Amino acid sequence: MSPDTALGPSPSGAGSPAQGGAPLDLSSATLIGRGWKRDCYLHPADPELCIKVPSAEPKGTRRFRERFIEWRTGGSIGDQHNAREWAAYRRFGNLLAAYLPVYHGLIATTRGRGLLIDVVRDADGAPSAHLKDWLRDKPVATAAPLLTQLNGLLDLLLRHEIWLMDLNLTNFVARIDAEGAARPMLIDIKRIADNKELFQVSGWSRTLMRRKLARRIARFHAKVEMTQNG
Ligand SMILES: Nc1ncnc2c1ncn2[C@@H]1O[C@H](COP(=O)(O)OP(=O)(O)O)[C@@H](O)[C@H]1O
Ligand SMILES: [Mg+2]
Repeated sequence: MSPDTALGPSPSGAGSPAQGGAPLDLSSATLIGRGWKRDCYLHPADPELCIKVPSAEPKGTRRFRERFIEWRTGGSIGDQHNAREWAAYRRFGNLLAAYLPVYHGLIATTRGRGLLIDVVRDADGAPSAHLKDWLRDKPVATAAPLLTQLNGLLDLLLRHEIWLMDLNLTNFVARIDAEGAARPMLIDIKRIADNKELFQVSGWSRTLMRRKLARRIARFHAKVEMTQNG
């Protein structure tokens, strides 16, 4: 199986080059989220699935580095982020499984190559709220169990030196289960670079790198607190 082909159940085979399907038509698909470089659509034939595709109008400043990458790879930055995220899932998916939806792989769509993922929904079927929206105004006691689990996830990232490209609250949702308990789920696991690349580029010692990652995680904790306190 090539890493560029879909692993998962694309219902009609559409979009899966391995099955000789046509690109999945997203022209009338429902948009469920808009990120910095990618848009997320509901799968037109399966409401359990969504597809992240490169955004037609990426947000944020288009830095020289981004334009250089696009020129070098011949693909958009959103496409590159999808490839990075799929690679991260294949590497760390098992380790982080308790906090992740299932990812099914890269598929061809009419909006370019997309990443097929299970939609994170609450037990009642509603799409789970962004962590930022869920946390806002939540009494400390209500938020505490979710924050304990979030700390567990952050510890895993630190222990295994996993550098997510952005560690911010919009990359998490709060999934509510049938008992009403909330669980933090990570919906964007693309990494900055392979750890190997980081070591080569930076030349930092492992200790320094870990310290920097710990600071990053501490900043994330601060963002969580600020959101909670309004
Ligand atoms: N598995 C998912 N289930 C539900 N919504 C999702 C899922 N993955 C992404 N989204 C939605 O799509 C948005 C953009 O995805 P994201 O990966 O953060 O894009 P970007 O990296 O370009 O910012 C998210 O903020 C969220 O609203
Ligand atoms: Mg994001």
